[in-house]
Amino acid sequence: MRALITGGAGFIGSHTADALLAAGYEVRLLDSLEPPVHPERKAPEYLDPRCELIVGDVRDENALLRALQGCDVVYHLAAFQDYLPLFSRYFDVNVTSTALLYELIVRESLPVQKVIVASSQATLGEGLYVDAEGRAVLPDIRPDEQLARGIWDVQAPEGSTGPLRWQPTDETHQNPQNQYGVSKIAEETVALSIGRRYEIPTVAMRYSIVQGPRQSFYNAYSGACRVFCLAMHQKQRPPIYEDGQQIRDFVNIHDVVDANLLVLRDERADYEMFHVGGDRTLTVSEFASVVAEVFRIADYEPEACGRYRFGDTRHICSDVSKLKALGWSPQRTVHDSVDAYRGWIEDAAPPAELLTNATAKMEELGVVRRVKS
Ligand SMILES: NC(=O)c1ccc[n+]([C@@H]2O[C@H](COP(=O)([O-])OP(=O)(O)OC[C@H]3O[C@@H](n4cnc5c(N)ncnc54)[C@H](O)[C@@H]3O)[C@@H](O)[C@H]2O)c1
Repeated sequence: MRALITGGAGFIGSHTADALLAAGYEVRLLDSLEPPVHPERKAPEYLDPRCELIVGDVRDENALLRALQGCDVVYHLAAFQDYLPLFSRYFDVNVTSTALLYELIVRESLPVQKVIVASSQATLGEGLYVDAEGRAVLPDIRPDEQLARGIWDVQAPEGSTGPLRWQPTDETHQNPQNQYGVSKIAEETVALSIGRRYEIPTVAMRYSIVQGPRQSFYNAYSGACRVFCLAMHQKQRPPIYEDGQQIRDFVNIHDVVDANLLVLRDERADYEMFHVGGDRTLTVSEFASVVAEVFRIADYEPEACGRYRFGDTRHICSDVSKLKALGWSPQRTVHDSVDAYRGWIEDAAPPAELLTNATAKMEELGVVRRVKS
């Protein structure tokens, strides 16, 4: 059996490749080695040499067709994920490539037995809340004028009574609040609907915040684990946005890989969508304290930096009951993820200016904003 992984030179793809090799698959990767992840546009050293790497873009019909030849299963993980306002590119890379994948499978009658596409918790945006009367609410993005005044909690919309309480959100919901989230809704819809219509077993995986080694130091989108670990590695205070009380669910890369292999083997997963999260929540400040513990920084007290990221969700936690019903459950802790990431930083020794450059760029783009006192 041969598996194709698009975006296979990246974080989730390369770990999935390792697991597929261990399970006896031949593995082919199609990856354009995009600069934010691969700054030197070279194949990363962590790739297992048994993987066949085709350097090419998922939007390139010839490259994708060549990569698909002789493959039994496909993981479509390549994606544009950033904060840049290149709106069309999110759809071009994440959605058009998905449609092209199915177009080639159908047009060329390729014997692909299963396609697994990477979606995201970003499809949920602020997720599900209930109001004081227990009515479900899917809140909109928090207005900038509210955030600039340092009012962090989601306010009850007209017709609801506050305060609102966040809930774990299951797969029946969608509430994307940025172009990346909208593109992922489109990607999973294209995959599941064409898959169903042409009887190509398809599974969409909505990953929460995935953590572990090989996650790029360079991609601003890589989130809290990267930023907090880089800061503490350099003995700096990590920037805690808002008041640090935002709820998040983090999931370890090996739990994600287990989920990726489980849905490959289990026919009950076909034509379904699954949340893949940590099944427990942490506030951002609690997460910072875990990082401090792993980096052995004594007496660390999380402290808000007086800034916020416009467009961030206040709280989000994926309900993973549906995947658990297939026999999966997360086995690793957040401490495990951070510890493994620490090892990766120490081995790779990323340049010190990375952190300050990334923060400056985010401020310049207007993504990170200051609270008006
Ligand atoms: N890491 C997370 O926390 C997370 C969370 C939710 C969803 N996801 C999704 O999971 C998938 C994998 O994410 P990741 O964290 O491994 O990302 P990553 O950035 O580490 O890897 C993505 C890979 O795709 C490649 N790529 C990008 N554009 C391409 C193109 N046009 N053609 C070919 N290759 C291209 C990049 O070079 C990179 O190697 C993505 O679809 C992402 O949206 C990730």
